[in-house]
Amino acid sequence: MTHPYDGLTFDELKQRPLLKWRHYDDDVLAMWVADMDFPVASAVREGIHTWADSALYGYPEWTGLPGVREALVEHLDRTTGWKVTPDQVWLLPGVVPGLFGAVKAFSSQGDGILASTPLYPPFRMATENQGRLFQSVDLAQDDTGRYHFDPAAAEAAVTPATRLLMLCHPHNPTGRSFERDELEAMADLVNRHRLFAVSDELHADLTYDGRHTPFASVNKEAAARTVTLVGPTKAFNLAGLKIGFAVAENPEVLDRFKQAMAFVSMPPPSPSQAGARAAYQHGGEWFASTLDYLKGNRDLIDRFVRERLPDVRLHAPEATYLAWLDFRKTALADDPAGMLLEHGRLGLNDGTSFGPAGQGFARLNFATARPLVQEALERIEGVLTSRS
Ligand SMILES: Cc1ncc(COP(=O)(O)O)c(C=O)c1O
Repeated sequence: MTHPYDGLTFDELKQRPLLKWRHYDDDVLAMWVADMDFPVASAVREGIHTWADSALYGYPEWTGLPGVREALVEHLDRTTGWKVTPDQVWLLPGVVPGLFGAVKAFSSQGDGILASTPLYPPFRMATENQGRLFQSVDLAQDDTGRYHFDPAAAEAAVTPATRLLMLCHPHNPTGRSFERDELEAMADLVNRHRLFAVSDELHADLTYDGRHTPFASVNKEAAARTVTLVGPTKAFNLAGLKIGFAVAENPEVLDRFKQAMAFVSMPPPSPSQAGARAAYQHGGEWFASTLDYLKGNRDLIDRFVRERLPDVRLHAPEATYLAWLDFRKTALADDPAGMLLEHGRLGLNDGTSFGPAGQGFARLNFATARPLVQEALERIEGVLTSRS
């Protein structure tokens, strides 16, 4: 059975005036930056149109458009069971600014910040650009290629200078959705060393099997030391709207974070808030169908890699629409993304951009039409065959 998303074509996508499709030459199939190619939910478009028709283009209140925080709070409860209140929510112009704000709020120059690597690059940037020490702890890998949090390695990395644990959950690029025991081990580390935590949960809605468990929901003591960053931009394909939310159950922690965010002079633009509110309130049907489609793409990649790319290793992502492909046992090991671009005209993220633990890997964004995912996999197969 075909899905309307199957009909998206390379020629049409190439015309889009978006970063994803303008970054490479015209013949390159772009499967890099984390944007979806799917049309946005009609509910979101209607939400933005209704806001536009209101012609109320003045400064929004600090607490946002009416109902926007409530929409998030209801969404979190509905999807994860985590119960928070609107006054525990602060609006952000994106999640990455929130990462910078958390580093600023909970550490000083020269302090150490712990994070599990390989990792989405802005975590490191938020740390080092502000004169903090990035204390990276590589995730451990089992025989199936599945990554997991290694409490002993994290413990060994903590120094007296360590102030903050930065968590990416679900994890970009590995696609791990951490399990409760891993989250409890992280919470234990935070509590024992009296650290603060910032948990970037932007990909939480994109969890394939079972529910996402927010870090702040596993342990009350750790929750009191945590800021959680969430938003609709990945799940609803709204990255250009630049909106996110910080949630903190402890008012002192939230205040400290807000002070640090003073460089942001206003809440995110009103149309972005209108789009986010509509996504949470009315986007459920669109989202369910999109997640189902993404799961089909994920399963296709998993099958293809096992059957036709035996030297490539992949642990199918538990969340996110990102596949973290391990080419270390192939002829492309030195520079998989570079070689696939040159010889396969395929645009993937270079694994080393996620840190040294990404050497020999490339990240593939599969939020596109299934025939294009198939095409990308065949291009990888073609390059591997021609090089072996
Ligand atoms: C884990 C994670 N955090 C943050 C972002 C970007 O957030 P924003 O565009 O809201 O700054 C991304 C984008 O891919 C991401 O994967």
